Amino acid sequence: MRGKRALGPWLVMAGALLVLLGLIGGSQVLKAFDYFYPSKGQQQMYKLDISWPKIPEYFTGQTFCVAVDSLHGLVYVGQRGDDVPKVLVFSVEGYFLYSWNDTVEMPHGIFVLNTATDSSVWITDVGAGKYGHTVKQYSPSGKLLQILGTPGNAGSSLNPIQFDQPAEIFVEESGDMYVVDGDGGMNNRLLKLSTDYKEIWLSGENGTGIGQFKIPHSVTVDCYGRVWVADRDNKRIQVFDKVTGEWLGAWSSCFSEDGPYSVRFTSDYKYLIVAQMNINRLAILAAPPVGIIGDCAIVNAIQLADETKPHLVDIDMKSGAIYIAEIGAQQVQKYVPIS
Ligand SMILES: *[C@@H]1O[C@H](CO)[C@@H](O)[C@H](O)[C@H]1NC(C)=O
Ligand SMILES: *[C@@H]1O[C@H](CO)[C@@H](O)[C@H](O)[C@H]1NC(C)=O
Repeated sequence: MRGKRALGPWLVMAGALLVLLGLIGGSQVLKAFDYFYPSKGQQQMYKLDISWPKIPEYFTGQTFCVAVDSLHGLVYVGQRGDDVPKVLVFSVEGYFLYSWNDTVEMPHGIFVLNTATDSSVWITDVGAGKYGHTVKQYSPSGKLLQILGTPGNAGSSLNPIQFDQPAEIFVEESGDMYVVDGDGGMNNRLLKLSTDYKEIWLSGENGTGIGQFKIPHSVTVDCYGRVWVADRDNKRIQVFDKVTGEWLGAWSSCFSEDGPYSVRFTSDYKYLIVAQMNINRLAILAAPPVGIIGDCAIVNAIQLADETKPHLVDIDMKSGAIYIAEIGAQQVQKYVPIS
């Protein structure tokens, strides 16, 4: 009894010391991974194009998403708000062209698909009204072509397909599509759908394990057949085989400070551009070659002003420019590669 009593405080103190050392050590490790410190002479990779857009006053709402049609030189912007057009269309040179409103409630993600014969715009809508909980396809001029999901009703069904706050969509030229569902609703899943909108494979449920998600927020496919998902609230990126849905790996050490909001590859597939909304940063990560994804490495960064809140991004696959939809600054900014 006596011995224990004497030892107790020492054990507590030793424990506290260990915890303290752990915290200090841990935070140093976190910093080493998390922050990007440009070393002496390190060049920035991108610079702001201050001439884009020509007239910023067209941004009248909260700009949540942006998609570039590099083939036709168009930039689509999704914004939210009362009495504002929901989709704005600019040229890559920065001229405002037109806008549309119909059937869009609360755009979250936007994607442009070009095929040999056609071009269309896909929008995920997290609205709770009669057009919400859907993924919609539009013509470039804003004509509604297709609705996936049951408009106005959130759900988890696969047949018919239903969504709850679908976050983003990526469509391949073949027509196969990947949807991350969703942005805080009842579903936490990645769906691959066929051209007739049937499930090919599905990954995910609510959780922190392999292939589970907490707010799968953005999705893209690389040129090696891998599907990349920003698993936002798990603060990691998860990667899957696009044919089988097999889990290929995860990156988390780069995102301990703030979760990934976007996944987009640069036009040469050498880098992955990841928005981190709460720290107002775009992390530029080395993209791994075919096969095992290995560990993540932040090789450069674009630090934005406080409260800019970069939400989703898209890349012009022709010029390499990055377009950033910023909820806080209520604008879209264009960054161009410094060659
Ligand atoms: C969109 O709707 C808003 C509010 O209803 C209106 O002010 C605006 O003119 C509309 N814009 C377009 C392009 O239809
Ligand atoms: C997911 O699980 C967490 C607990 O692990 C819970 O707090 C949360 O509400 C769940 N979300 C959904 C959509 O079921």
